[in-house]
Amino acid sequence: MTIRPIRYLGDPVLRRPAKKVSRVDDSIRRLIADMTESMYLAQGVGIAAPQIGVGLRVVVIGMPDEEPFALINPVVIKRSGERRLDEGCLSVPGYRGSLTRSIAVTVKALDEDGREIRVKSEGDLLAQALEHETDHVNGLLYVDRLDAKTDLVKLEPAGAHVRDGDD
Ligand code: NI
Repeated sequence: MTIRPIRYLGDPVLRRPAKKVSRVDDSIRRLIADMTESMYLAQGVGIAAPQIGVGLRVVVIGMPDEEPFALINPVVIKRSGERRLDEGCLSVPGYRGSLTRSIAVTVKALDEDGREIRVKSEGDLLAQALEHETDHVNGLLYVDRLDAKTDLVKLEPAGAHVRDGDD
């Protein structure tokens, strides 16, 4: 496993829609292992491959006290409701923003054995992470979803972004 540096806002890899994974093989499983390590080191609860510079549609989610899992080629197939949330991102260190997310989210994807899975969550951090990480593989960041620039808040001290809920 290799820890890979996190890419930050301004890096074009975060803005390119990532490529679909055509075959789930050992190279993808190695990527997932690297992403998982990099996510935990940065104290995130989710990470997408473009955040370590890899333009593939691969996401890892690691909720506190739960086993991490991968989503390959994730697509949000159902969402409902709206709620206001506070959000951060490993690629936008030192900031938090408030934005509107769905209450219930269902994602269809492949797992790391290439089997089709569905992950559904409602009203919790996982539902938020499913939307946040699927946005990443589409080249979107949460800052794109703010209603106003004033919804973005700089944390003090500058750079102290590592806390629960950053993904
Ligand atoms: Ni993020």
